[in-house]
Amino acid sequence: MDGPLDWYKDAVIYEVQVRSFCDTNGDGIGDLPGLLSKLDYLQRLGVTALWLLPHYPSPLRDDGYDIADYLGVHTDLGTLDDFKAVIAAAHARGLRVITELVLNHTSDQHPWFQRARRAPAGSAERDVYVWSDSPDKYAGVRRIFPDYEDSNWEWDEVAQAYYWHRFFRSQPDLNFDSPWVQQALLEVVDFWFGLGVDGMRLDAVTYLYEREGTNCESLPETHAFLRKLRAHVDARFPGRMLLGEANQWPEELVGYFGDDDECHMVYHFPAMPRLYMALAQEDRRPVVEILARTPAPPPSGQWATFLRNHDELTLEMVSEDERAFMLEVYAQDPRAKLNVGIRRRLAPLLGGDRAKLELLNVLLFSLPGTPIVYYGDELGMGDELDLDDRDGVRTPMQWDASPSAGFSSAPPERLHLPVVSDPDYAPPAVNVAAQEGARGSLLEWTRRLISLRRELPVLARGGLQVHEPENQRVLAFVRGDSGEQLLVVANLASTPQRAELELPDHVGRALRDVFSGAVLPPLSGPTCSLELPGYGYRWLALGAPGA
Ligand code: NOJ
Ligand code: CA
Repeated sequence: MDGPLDWYKDAVIYEVQVRSFCDTNGDGIGDLPGLLSKLDYLQRLGVTALWLLPHYPSPLRDDGYDIADYLGVHTDLGTLDDFKAVIAAAHARGLRVITELVLNHTSDQHPWFQRARRAPAGSAERDVYVWSDSPDKYAGVRRIFPDYEDSNWEWDEVAQAYYWHRFFRSQPDLNFDSPWVQQALLEVVDFWFGLGVDGMRLDAVTYLYEREGTNCESLPETHAFLRKLRAHVDARFPGRMLLGEANQWPEELVGYFGDDDECHMVYHFPAMPRLYMALAQEDRRPVVEILARTPAPPPSGQWATFLRNHDELTLEMVSEDERAFMLEVYAQDPRAKLNVGIRRRLAPLLGGDRAKLELLNVLLFSLPGTPIVYYGDELGMGDELDLDDRDGVRTPMQWDASPSAGFSSAPPERLHLPVVSDPDYAPPAVNVAAQEGARGSLLEWTRRLISLRRELPVLARGGLQVHEPENQRVLAFVRGDSGEQLLVVANLASTPQRAELELPDHVGRALRDVFSGAVLPPLSGPTCSLELPGYGYRWLALGAPGA
């Protein structure tokens, strides 16, 4: 597709679980033709890029993050031709497509693993995975799914050895010390970028290498491989994007951009829980502190930001006290807890409170980085806590009020996951048909937010200056470095709040309220006093200085 090489900086990304989006052949499973049939909807919503959860052949022990063939498409979803058709139709609408690249591990059903476990110890075929005679190797390395796995090692009867797995035992880790593995994965990248994919999300990229005496995360060897991958991609496919998934603290996260020679984008994991924390505490400090300790990405780098995704709301990047606070506020139902996080969707997390939903979304769209919207959150979809693992936040998209939510012609009991049953969030209460075109609906509000963001390039590319008015309940910052700038002001409290902002550099500039369109009198002095209703927010565009 045409456009700047760093298109991802201006993007609004929509994360979509194809299996749960739209089913066209009535088998109860969403598919690629279904996604294709909904591209008009996505284009109307205004998002500019789609991130597709794993589409590969897989036994689905981890919803496709357990790949059994890197060069194929899961038969549930369709064929490779269906995949190509989605890319072509998306591109024709100006939508980019980002797919998953699960580098760290495969399914235990992958032919590489089946071959490895039968190959002689020490052979190149065996060494495609990480083996040990003892489960004591790499002692102390944390477990990522502690609710399901009590060790990172699993005994394999066939191999008569233990294999290493950071995730489920059905996901053996690939061995990046093997040159064969590296080459094979570069060929996978060439295959999908060759088909026109615009970006790849590097799943679990922190864990590629293991070394004794370390925590086996973010090792120098892992960064060296990322440099190799980036150089490979830039040389063959300029303008394609690599998005690193590394659940780490800011100082370590920024390392995944390398010296502008590793990932183009990196998720800002620690920012996410702090938005929820600031809201619950009615205090801006958690957000301000994490921004202050976030180094700027290099020139081609951009943060990826999100409120929710297909996993639990992870609480790894907070202190123990903060975690306890988050669980107390947001996971009162014990079923909501999973691993080190909370398995709920955005709307139920916020008690369905429209004002809070708007406020958090505005912050997501205001902070530095490219925002990601999780499918269904544009409607305020709910979740299904009785489902296993993370399935409760992956239920069918609610297109209309019918029992199968317009997701499928199959009856509700034949859907791959049930639709949400809570009457407050079930299809009759929350669906696209009811919200599309309806004044005041969350869908229409989200569409407007996306469109306003796209009209304000400072939000995509501008710098950040945080202001600290005395009133801690108000979060305020300016985006943009010179020329057009945007003042963002948000009231984190449920009650009205006033804040005095010191803006000596902006005296004389005109202010336009982006949401209401109202033009405010130019700033007459260095102090700007603003009153905001409970959970109120404003985007105030500062006219060019002297204009
Ligand atoms: C991160 C993905 O987001 C998650 O869904 C998956 O289970 C793990 N990586 C393992 O691939
Ligand atoms: Ca189907």
